Amino acid sequence: MSEAIAQPSIAKAPLEKVWGEIREHGIEKHIAELDAYGYTIIPPQLASPNGLADRLLEAVLEVAERRNGIRPDLKTGSTHAGYKGRFAAFTGADGDSPIGLLFEGQIFEEALMNPVLLTMASYLCGYSVVLSSMGCFMKGPNVSTFALHMDTPLPSPLPPQALVCNLTYVLTEFNQENGSTAFVPGSHKWCRAPETAETAVSTDGDLNIVAVECPPGSLLCWHGNTWHGAFNRTAPGLRVSVPLYMARPCIRTQEGLVGEIPQQMLDRNPARFAILTQQAVAYGYKSQEDSIARGESAMKFTKAYLDEDGTMKTGARGLYN
Ligand SMILES: [Fe+2]
Repeated sequence: MSEAIAQPSIAKAPLEKVWGEIREHGIEKHIAELDAYGYTIIPPQLASPNGLADRLLEAVLEVAERRNGIRPDLKTGSTHAGYKGRFAAFTGADGDSPIGLLFEGQIFEEALMNPVLLTMASYLCGYSVVLSSMGCFMKGPNVSTFALHMDTPLPSPLPPQALVCNLTYVLTEFNQENGSTAFVPGSHKWCRAPETAETAVSTDGDLNIVAVECPPGSLLCWHGNTWHGAFNRTAPGLRVSVPLYMARPCIRTQEGLVGEIPQQMLDRNPARFAILTQQAVAYGYKSQEDSIARGESAMKFTKAYLDEDGTMKTGARGLYN
């Protein structure tokens, strides 16, 4: 063993570092569930510090009202009757669930920086994980079951490692009648997308499809390869959630945040915020000059994060090793 390696050091390999965080938050059980089933539900007392979920619900209702001119009706769901969805291009109807929430107020920055959420994201996708998108789903009584799929944006067969993950704040009661998320436990180990004939969300078929049941304030976490969809909502009212779709930095993101984060927003957050909001992603340049500028910027943000953290063992390519 060389002398350099034998020296005591505070630098930690990523797995050692993230395991320390997992123990600190007391979420070992949830890591075991995630590995076994491909998803886990972290309860409000761990996932929603300082009433975060209540404040998030109020914030997304305000954003929706500001953008659509109508206050979403949580009680009856009448404002969201039928299936509309977030993207008019997919549904032929106006989007009823706001996307691009990061710029809608500091509470969404707080939602991203939630330590338990970041530990789950780091465990699944590494410390260089980035936010791909933060939007919300508002669902009223509907008749269009959200078919089974998986979130990894690659053709099958898939690698077993999570290239993306989903961390969803549950903001209203989730159960089957309320149109909750549906999972196929263990499906992340199959490393493939469902065939068309396998995509129906039904409890009558051969697949073991489980409806999520949990209170508002829970954090629903899943591996990018896990098969999931949603049940129809049959009860009156709205189902509201805020998904943070996260990805390794080599994956194309839904939101393009490079160079889009105001300095004020960077200044009021820890250095990791810049990493999470894609500021250390150097790829995607448009010219030689741009490649140099983006490379230098990425290095600056990466160095700031490493300096701030002070415990990370890194390789020749910084966070990316
Ligand atoms: Fe999905």
